[in-house]
Amino acid sequence: MKKNLKIAIIGAGCRGNAYASLFHKAGTSISAMAEPRLFQRNSAAQSFNIDKTHIFSDWREMASLPKLADAVVIATQDNMHTEPALEFLRKGYHVLLEKPMAPSPEECISICNAAKKSGSIFAVCHVLRYTPYFRKLKELIDSGLAGEIITLRHIERVGYWHQAHAFVRGNWRNTSSAAPMIIAKSCHDMDIILYLTGKKCRRVSSFGSLMHFKRENMPASSSGRCMSCPLAEGQCPYSAKEIYLNSRALKGKFGWPVDIITNDLSIEGVKKALLDGPYGNCVYNCDNNVVDHQVVNMEFDNGMTSSFTMTAFTPDGLSRETEIMGSKGYIKGDSNLITTVDFASGKKQLFDITRTEGLLDDGHGGGDNGIVKDFISAVENEDQSMLSSGPEISLEGHLLGFAAEKSRINGSVEQLASLNVCHQS
Ligand SMILES: NC(=O)c1ccc[n+]([C@@H]2O[C@H](COP(=O)([O-])OP(=O)(O)OC[C@H]3O[C@@H](n4cnc5c(N)ncnc54)[C@H](O)[C@@H]3O)[C@@H](O)[C@H]2O)c1
Repeated sequence: MKKNLKIAIIGAGCRGNAYASLFHKAGTSISAMAEPRLFQRNSAAQSFNIDKTHIFSDWREMASLPKLADAVVIATQDNMHTEPALEFLRKGYHVLLEKPMAPSPEECISICNAAKKSGSIFAVCHVLRYTPYFRKLKELIDSGLAGEIITLRHIERVGYWHQAHAFVRGNWRNTSSAAPMIIAKSCHDMDIILYLTGKKCRRVSSFGSLMHFKRENMPASSSGRCMSCPLAEGQCPYSAKEIYLNSRALKGKFGWPVDIITNDLSIEGVKKALLDGPYGNCVYNCDNNVVDHQVVNMEFDNGMTSSFTMTAFTPDGLSRETEIMGSKGYIKGDSNLITTVDFASGKKQLFDITRTEGLLDDGHGGGDNGIVKDFISAVENEDQSMLSSGPEISLEGHLLGFAAEKSRINGSVEQLASLNVCHQS
């Protein structure tokens, strides 16, 4: 068993930093970092006490040197995953790769092939799989309580302000620089449906569009920028003033998502970012093109059906709901509570996941912490099976998402050939 692991962070933005903190907290050392932005690079280097000679402004500089760590966390933007993933795998690093794997099926397949060929430990950050909530849901399904799953309904409530932040004004707003919504955001959901059911999807269809956040919906009196807009206080749900300054989304603290829009977290700093930057744009005046609502219908090999809804238009961001309708019982979860009903006995049970110890301490319902712990164990024991989001299973969810997107665009029903496309080559 290898101990005292060294981890390198590629991209010290929001996610790279979150992982660096969790790996650091778990007792591994952050031995190297690549990050072009000076502020992010300096603050991460200081927080994790990284040797100056192991700090780089581009991952390529690091990749050109002999290995500086046992593993890399690749947390660059969606369209910058493939190159570093292939290169660090080639160099013999273990790899923890942020989702989505990549914005095209071909790139995802090439990463999967490279990961398998390398023999390195490899996982995609499908953090939902590592949460106490989804683990409990899976345990209940696998216990047979609901019998055979006949129907599964899953919804992702993105939340009105979260959609505005990330998918209208922010990094994932346009498919010229980011993956489509079903991949960028909902690859988690495609993956979790496959995880929960343990079945293979054979047909998929999808509908959805960008219906609301468009120029024609801009109120006549909008100024186009929130800081000068007469509607910005109390009249517009998407007002950047309300979201970033008046704490509608913030619950009183200037953490995420305000730290995404500026490095200066003073009131003046935030105001300046809203006056000058993209996050102060009217939501009806952006260059966004990703969908704000989408449905996906799936049929599985055994006849089971599943429906998925992603929508921006909910009050609560970041929460998912799943209903499992089986031959013997029913299970419903809302990310916090799970209720079960046994049809034969009529017995009902309630599980409160919010009582799980340490759950509120870290991101994504405990999933960030869960994947870091399992990744460390997998690398220490050189045992890929300790990770549930390895190359092939992660590829499967991505290919399902790409097929759904093809259906949405073409109006087709897509057949999923056996997804055994990840070969050693
Ligand atoms: N697992 C999840 O639930 C989850 C949640 C949010 C985001 N993500 C994904 O994580 C990834 C990162 O998202 P983020 O919000 O941290 O973005 P971010 O923009 O905050 O961070 C990306 C960082 O990569 C850096 N970078 C750019 N070029 C680089 C280079 N050549 N070498 C090294 N670093 C470089 C950027 O400067 C930036 O700091 C995205 O793919 C995103 O979709 C996953």
